[in-house]
Amino acid sequence: MLDKKSPLPMYYQIEEDIKQKIDSAIYSERETIPSERELSEQYEVSRMTVRQAVTNLVNEGYLYREKGKGTFVAEKKIEQPLQGMTSFTEDMKQRGMDSSSKLLDFTIIPPPADIKRKLSLEEDRQVYEIHRIRYADHQPMAVERTFIPVALVPGMQEKDVYGSIYEYIEKNHDYTIHKATQMIEATIADEEQAELLDIVPAAAILHIERTSLLQDGTPFEVVKSSYRADRYKFISEIHRS
Ligand code: GLP
Repeated sequence: MLDKKSPLPMYYQIEEDIKQKIDSAIYSERETIPSERELSEQYEVSRMTVRQAVTNLVNEGYLYREKGKGTFVAEKKIEQPLQGMTSFTEDMKQRGMDSSSKLLDFTIIPPPADIKRKLSLEEDRQVYEIHRIRYADHQPMAVERTFIPVALVPGMQEKDVYGSIYEYIEKNHDYTIHKATQMIEATIADEEQAELLDIVPAAAILHIERTSLLQDGTPFEVVKSSYRADRYKFISEIHRS
């Protein structure tokens, strides 16, 4: 099955073969793959070679290990295009997934200095701080901390932020959400994030910060989001000519 004369290393050929089996659903998501012993018999290579292939696939997020249980096929990551300013609710709807939120905190506070600056707020202006877990098909995908000037969206209440905040803002005010700047950074989950996202501490996280503007240029939100790196990847189309 492997080409022993090929200049491609054995472990690499095994990786490609396992990936192909995942793609064609011979190995299904959340199910175990054969043990190292079985794979080494199947491919007629040493267990060390198999282990290297499997470890690489674990590191790349195709597989994950559970102590005492075996090695499983990871769920496919959600591919999120980087162009287009969509809301979480819209993103999930587009994929036919069910979106929901758990509200962890909803308070009105004087803005921290960086938020005040990013929202171009004058002295004494307050902001909503909304802390939510965002779920896709009941699986936690991200935790988000949203800051919105109270004066821009007066009267917003807890019940308004279980669903889409963008929808609430556009429906209840004469605002058009226009554009945003977004920064993406790699981080690792702290204890709290790990618990909220149902991942192990120190797992990889994509930290995204978005500052969004209304049509007239008024900044209306700063959002600090932590997305699960095992469930998300960001895709952008780039042009050279
Ligand atoms: C995404 C973005 C956030 C944005 C949110 C709005 O999750 N990362 O920056 O605030 O969408 O989503 P919704 O309208 O569903 O609350």
